[in-house]
Amino acid sequence: MDGKIVTIPGDGIGPEIVREACKVLDKIGKVYRHSFQYTPVLMGGCSIDEYGVPLTDEALETARKSDAVLLGAVGGDVGNSRWYDVAPDLRPEAGLLAIRKGLNLFANIRPAYLYGELADACPLKKEITGSGFDLVIMRELTGGLYFGERHTREVNGVMEATDTLTYNENEIRRIAVKAFSIAMKRRKQVVSVDKANVLDSSRLWRKVVEEVAKDYPEVELRHMLVDNCAMQLVMNPGQFDVVLTENMFGDILSDEASMITGSIGMLSSASLNETKFGLYEPSHGSAPDIAGKDIANPIATILSAAMMLRYSFDLDKEANAVEAAVQKVLTDGFRTADIMTAGGRQVGTSEMGDLIAENIK
Ligand code: IPM
Ligand code: MG
Repeated sequence: MDGKIVTIPGDGIGPEIVREACKVLDKIGKVYRHSFQYTPVLMGGCSIDEYGVPLTDEALETARKSDAVLLGAVGGDVGNSRWYDVAPDLRPEAGLLAIRKGLNLFANIRPAYLYGELADACPLKKEITGSGFDLVIMRELTGGLYFGERHTREVNGVMEATDTLTYNENEIRRIAVKAFSIAMKRRKQVVSVDKANVLDSSRLWRKVVEEVAKDYPEVELRHMLVDNCAMQLVMNPGQFDVVLTENMFGDILSDEASMITGSIGMLSSASLNETKFGLYEPSHGSAPDIAGKDIANPIATILSAAMMLRYSFDLDKEANAVEAAVQKVLTDGFRTADIMTAGGRQVGTSEMGDLIAENIK
């Protein structure tokens, strides 16, 4: 198979972690006889420096013509960077939102899985994690507060800022269908998260999710308010299989879910549209404070590349091989700084990539 991949290394630790993921993909190519061709494009702060905008139309078109996009991270230090002294739509993160919207990547899948080896890095007590957890957050990615109308203005001498949260039934239906179909391949449970005790958008969300549920009689559906879900994630994470939620809630809950796996450096993600095309990126940010020091954890990006093999290239065996290699390296005791615990063997970014590539069988 020939795969055309657009890489977006981005800012901060982005280039280092994307390099390691490509190393692992190349090893997959060698062992399983595929060829992956990479076309790098700029997005985020590096694109602002080069072109004055966080994402050029050309970069978006190059991404659109590829089979899949592998993204590192974009953005810098918000409080202390020239990239933030400009209008919001010219900031690095605007590039990320533009590519999500421009390529209609409405379904964001973020798996959170506790590796037995990382139980000591998990901040929760052993009584709580019990036999571990394995959940996925299905986050709506192209609607809600992120893309609603917004403005800041002065009203009677007082500054006022407005953001709007809108969902139509079609947007809710298509993400619900994705959540139920992925649940069918897992433990057949969906928890739909909303704030239906306050928000109209949540009440519509609940109604449409219930309609979709009728087409999946085998899947058990529960509704949960978002504040309760935030609490349940740290009280009993093992109860969740697929968590379906809107954009902003999903942003917040996925950081929480990632942290209980031991480190945000472990959480991969896939952003999909209705076709096989997808954008794959770690759920964490660009971590400018540790950029260029060879200490960032590349595992989230490597696991995102595994999701790319599975969802965009239908290469399940190869995706399993990447996941097994990550598991093996953790079992062997290798750790990057963020997941380091007593008895582990600490390695840097590129050594972690080498080890995972070597273990591709
Ligand atoms: C994420 C990030 C982005 C988001 C930021 C960088 C705009 O936090 O992918 O979760 O909020 O979606
Ligand atoms: Mg986030």
